[in-house]
Amino acid sequence: NTQMNIAIDGPAGAGKSTVAKLLAEKLEFVYIDTGAMYRALTWKAIKENVDVNDEKVLHQLLKECDIALVNESGHSLVKLNGQDVTEEIRNASVTNNVSYVAKHPLIRKEMVSKQQLLAANGGTVMDGRDIGTAVLPEANVKIFLTASVEERAKRRHEENISKGMSSDLVKLKEDIAKRDQIDSERDVAPLKQAEDAIVLDSTSMSIEEVVENIYGVIVERD
Ligand code: C5P
Repeated sequence: NTQMNIAIDGPAGAGKSTVAKLLAEKLEFVYIDTGAMYRALTWKAIKENVDVNDEKVLHQLLKECDIALVNESGHSLVKLNGQDVTEEIRNASVTNNVSYVAKHPLIRKEMVSKQQLLAANGGTVMDGRDIGTAVLPEANVKIFLTASVEERAKRRHEENISKGMSSDLVKLKEDIAKRDQIDSERDVAPLKQAEDAIVLDSTSMSIEEVVENIYGVIVERD
């Protein structure tokens, strides 16, 4: 009795991780945040002063990195060589550099193998950009979650403000659009909806509505 794998792809800030986490809880599946893996390597590269455009050096650096997605008492943590980097990998400098790191074929190859291994026994909800198209082409359910760039920037802006952080809506919108452009235009496994993906536009949907909608599809297919 193998369990399903659920793939959730889409542009930056569409709510993929929030939705994937809730779905995983509801299904008692493992949530796998593939973006966190690219972010962890990017954080390390910045820390070590490695040029994000230097594929060879980045590839070497990745070999020295043990990137682990762990669950500690209900919290998903990202660890790099044992160090908790969960918070650090969300900072602006990582966010604005990660798409350059994720462009490199050698980096993607390693990350994809790792992700496929994590999903080998099923029972995962995996979110990213290329899950339905490249990582898990056989996923049982594929969702492409989108929202307008205005809405995505507004959500991130409100989230920042609620955390007491400073936030610039115009800058956020520009950064999100830029990241989507790099992710969509790269040669290897660009951000693209899989042919057999269900497209959900969450612009005027609540998180609960999105989760319920996907849950309905899963139950139907199970
Ligand atoms: O999902 P998140 O916004 O944290 O992803 C950060 C970045 O990692 C993306 O903008 C993209 O460049 C890269 N990424 C990717 N493939 C994935 C997941 C993330 O290229 N499967």
